[in-house]
Amino acid sequence: MADLIIRQAEEKDVPAIEEIEKQCFTVPWSYESLHKDIVENGLAFYVVAQTDGRVCGYVGIWKILDEGHITNVAVAPEFRRKHIGRAMLQALIDVTSQEGIEKYTLEVRASNQAAIRLYEGLGFKAEGIRPGYYEDNGEDAVIMWR
Ligand SMILES: CC(C)(COP(=O)(O)OP(=O)(O)OC[C@H]1O[C@@H](n2cnc3c(N)ncnc32)[C@H](O)[C@@H]1OP(=O)(O)O)[C@@H](O)C(=O)NCCC(=O)NCCS
Repeated sequence: MADLIIRQAEEKDVPAIEEIEKQCFTVPWSYESLHKDIVENGLAFYVVAQTDGRVCGYVGIWKILDEGHITNVAVAPEFRRKHIGRAMLQALIDVTSQEGIEKYTLEVRASNQAAIRLYEGLGFKAEGIRPGYYEDNGEDAVIMWR
């Protein structure tokens, strides 16, 4: 994608991020939660992907000492399989590793093979399970670390 821009998320991006969040997750974060995290949380860092002026994906992280806890990774359905998810995560890791983050972790639904493969491709490894972690369907979470 020639015109793909990866940049830090800003307050003006919150409505587009909320829309993608709703399209991607059965239990989406509310506008208020996203706004608070992106605009007010000094430990959080969010990146968006933009093409033709439209935000088409985002990723977020909480920086806790030398650990990065990845909170959200989402690409709007019509923009998937174009390496946008990978490019956003790589940018997130590049920037935060310069700030001293050495280890990265996230939780993913055990059935979410698309996401698990994306993370494995970036060097994440499954290191544990939280049984029944997801309240909507009782699914296990796989804990991954890089
Ligand atoms: C998971 C998600 C973020 C992937 O975003 P994406 O931009 O489509 O992924 P990319 O194009 O960067 O894929 C990178 C690699 O991940 C793997 N991958 C991505 N989607 C895949 C799929 N549907 N099936 C199998 N492998 C997949 C592949 O190895 C791919 O590399 P390849 O295309 O060269 O084979 C996207 O599917 C999404 O938003 N899903 C809904 C929200 C979600 O589940 N988020 C993760 C929560 S933990």
